[in-house]
Amino acid sequence: MIGMEHIQLKDFPTDFLWGSASAAYQVEGAWNVDGKGKSVWDVYAKVPGATFQDTNGDVAVDHYHRYKEDVKLMAEQGLKAYRFSIAWSRVLPNGTGEINEAGLEFYDRLIDELLSYQITPVVTLYHWDIPQTLMERYGGWESREVIEDFNNYAVILFKRYGDRVKHWVTLNEQNVFVGQGYKTGTHPPAVRDEKRFYEVNHIANVANAKVIQSFRALSIEDALIGPSFAYTPVYPKSPNPKDILAAENAEELLSHFWMDVYAWGEYPRVAMNYLIKEGIAPTILPGDLELLKAATPDFMGLNYYQTATVEYNPLNGGVGEAKPNFTGKKGSSKDSGIPGLFKTTANPFTETTDWDWTIDPEGLHVVLRRIENRYQLPILITENGLGAFDKLESDDTINDEYRIDYLKRHVKAIQEAITDGVTVLGYCTWSYTDLLSWLNGYQKRYGMVFVDRDEHDEKTLRRIPKKSYYWYQGVIASNGKQI
Ligand code: BG6
Repeated sequence: MIGMEHIQLKDFPTDFLWGSASAAYQVEGAWNVDGKGKSVWDVYAKVPGATFQDTNGDVAVDHYHRYKEDVKLMAEQGLKAYRFSIAWSRVLPNGTGEINEAGLEFYDRLIDELLSYQITPVVTLYHWDIPQTLMERYGGWESREVIEDFNNYAVILFKRYGDRVKHWVTLNEQNVFVGQGYKTGTHPPAVRDEKRFYEVNHIANVANAKVIQSFRALSIEDALIGPSFAYTPVYPKSPNPKDILAAENAEELLSHFWMDVYAWGEYPRVAMNYLIKEGIAPTILPGDLELLKAATPDFMGLNYYQTATVEYNPLNGGVGEAKPNFTGKKGSSKDSGIPGLFKTTANPFTETTDWDWTIDPEGLHVVLRRIENRYQLPILITENGLGAFDKLESDDTINDEYRIDYLKRHVKAIQEAITDGVTVLGYCTWSYTDLLSWLNGYQKRYGMVFVDRDEHDEKTLRRIPKKSYYWYQGVIASNGKQI
């Protein structure tokens, strides 16, 4: 077991997937091309004031038309895996019914291009872009009808690409898309209702389990499947038992509430008891819990960005939910919490990004250990990265030393966890190219490849590798020996 000062670190496994990631709406563009139907984001992002400076993904970074150039850059970098999502409404413009062959063909081409360079495709079934038709027809994730429709869509993908795709991610950050869609009201359909939030979340759990069950029934050779969870591990502010309990509350309600269901098919009892008491527990139908238990994943997908520190929050007069910083004005976000349970507070030992996200590489070591200890599942890190303002220099370089520093320290944390005995299958940086950040526009850049565009000007959409691109190239070539 290792702490901070290390004994000899273990090498990364030889088949470690050094990857990078994206999501359809954030990169593809071509929102109405080749028979694609509208997704909820095609509609929501056009509601005035819904996104940062009213940015949308109509063009995004035009990956739909430039995927060959993007994949070539991946190959030159030595990337072993590329995680991307499929746009449901490209494949089924109305979410169900008629299949759009041209949509399927785009992903055929992308997958084949990746494989031609021995890059492993990691496919996400759902990264937040449910077809608008399903939202209009029955309220999207709010109706149990979505379970069958999502399953039907997933089975189409498994059958079409299963011969070539061996890594499947079911739902990307269910906690985020359901939370922002139905609790904070910042993603479509912009609802703020706790009861509906828990109802929708349960339906998403059942849908997730159902597609895993269908996947098993198809017995796709050597293929793995799992959800990607946005895990923000919680630390107590102090040894004050009240703060410790606050941290327990947060960990239970914000993390175990999803991961226990994925791994064990069970809701954590303390959290469920609280929801029942509050009158906001989800409706669980006969057969649901059996399905959740029967359809467990092969790995836990982990999206890790930051940790949170919490403290006691009184029931009367306690702090409630606060709006996050979507502007990049450092220090503009406020503490947030649930009165009676917990509230966030600054961690004096860590730094923050311009969007007030805690930078905590050791936190990654902590989450990897927590997942290993609690669930004994292999972990695929499906996202990790730094959102920052980048500057294109006059000599066409981007000197993102701060991103290299961030990624380097996180890679080291993974190696420490591997040395501890945690099974980590791979690491996908977020993101490959710069892309549209849902609520933060184009100025919050995550890529290792710069894209020449901003909020309102598509400019040239030129791709320019950043300094971090070359740094990661060295990491991959040395299988993590040279970080
Ligand atoms: C994850 C998502 O929540 O974090 C990505 O899966 C997203 O789609 C990323 O872009 C970074 O978040 P943000 O809000 O900074 O874009």
